[in-house]
Amino acid sequence: MREQIRPARRIRGFMRVPGDKSISHRYAMLGAIASGVTRIRNYSTGADCWSTLECLRALGVPIESTNEEVIIHGAGPGGLVAPSETLDAGNSGSTIRMLSGILAGQSFTSLITGDALLLRRPMDRIIVPLRQMGATIRARQERYPPLEIQGGNLQGIDYTLPVPSAQVKTCVLLAGLFADGYTVVREPVPTRDHTEIALRQFGAQIEVINRIIRLRGHVGLQGQTLLVPGDLSSAAFFLVAALIVPDSELVIEGVGLNPTRSELLDFLISMGADIRVRNVRQQAGELLGELQVRSSDVSGGRIEKARTAALIDEIPILAVLGAVSREGLEVRDAAELQIKETDRIATIAENCRRMGVAIEVLPDGFIIPGRQKFRAAEFHSFGDHRIAMAMAVAALCADGECSIEAAEAADVSFPGFFEALRAVVVL
Ligand code: S3P
Repeated sequence: MREQIRPARRIRGFMRVPGDKSISHRYAMLGAIASGVTRIRNYSTGADCWSTLECLRALGVPIESTNEEVIIHGAGPGGLVAPSETLDAGNSGSTIRMLSGILAGQSFTSLITGDALLLRRPMDRIIVPLRQMGATIRARQERYPPLEIQGGNLQGIDYTLPVPSAQVKTCVLLAGLFADGYTVVREPVPTRDHTEIALRQFGAQIEVINRIIRLRGHVGLQGQTLLVPGDLSSAAFFLVAALIVPDSELVIEGVGLNPTRSELLDFLISMGADIRVRNVRQQAGELLGELQVRSSDVSGGRIEKARTAALIDEIPILAVLGAVSREGLEVRDAAELQIKETDRIATIAENCRRMGVAIEVLPDGFIIPGRQKFRAAEFHSFGDHRIAMAMAVAALCADGECSIEAAEAADVSFPGFFEALRAVVVL
């Protein structure tokens, strides 16, 4: 589907964004293996999180969904059943990588696969630790989906993450719930900690000291009633839109502000962005609050090392901001971008080229000079939700109407994104 986007005169209004994708996956998976009922309000409407629910249903977990909430009737210890068909993670790397941890803990064999883009994403990063724990796993070319996972009889391991990945950390911890003894995960570079917070909420025995996580196996979880905060990574598109379109002011309510995710706000504010954070509160261990943003002349900056890991999902939209900033944007230590939903270095560069924006591609990132003008263009999402949404924001500042090919990719994390954008744009 092609979307047409006209240049905006300003952005104005009040809005909410869908529930956080990362947190939704975790609450659903933990609810499925807990005892009793888990009720989740504001569960992400994105296709990825529905792939997780479908996989859990296929594992015998009764799940109801209403407009208000998702209700999961937890299977409890030993309660999952062998799926009769191949599990389908769709486009969702989080679903396949995190759920594989649970599958590795089951005494049956499962097959899990995904869409054409997911089939190109590496799974050796989870296969290695799961095999160390005792699971038998087969993968295409030893590293790509589909995965065949034969689990059971796991042993806890002491694992240092070789890449900063919250999905891998989560996979190992979920397997650790089914393992004998303790599972230890060491994180040289911090990554989002929603799993640790959610595990504690569901009653797991977990301890975190100096980025060393220690989890006791075979401790039963209890169903919970939970509210998912709005997704800061989705809000990021609207924050940048309001920053770069002149005379804008936007309020986004109920946004997740977990410190392992909010580097985006620190980075934007350090560049001179007028963003105010209000009404901060805590729910089930997660922070959330309201963001007010106004158009700002931002300086630009450099993203490298630990900051790259903390901003990894926001880099496509920060590239758009960088191009209009005073000094531009340099992104380093970001080779991981090449194995996201698309090779995001390549897909950002291709869309920059289409709108006449200069970009220097590096092996581990890119440099975009500042103060650039956007030419009206035909963009392509290449099937990547964050590329579709980032280019929609760029289009607001172009010198004419733009189009985005395969714009429906946005549904992966933000169904209704284009309607939400039109609702706050003043033409
Ligand atoms: C996620 C972790 C990140 C992120 C992805 C969601 C998660 O991936 O890019 O969108 O929910 O844990 P990695 O852990 O592979 O870096």
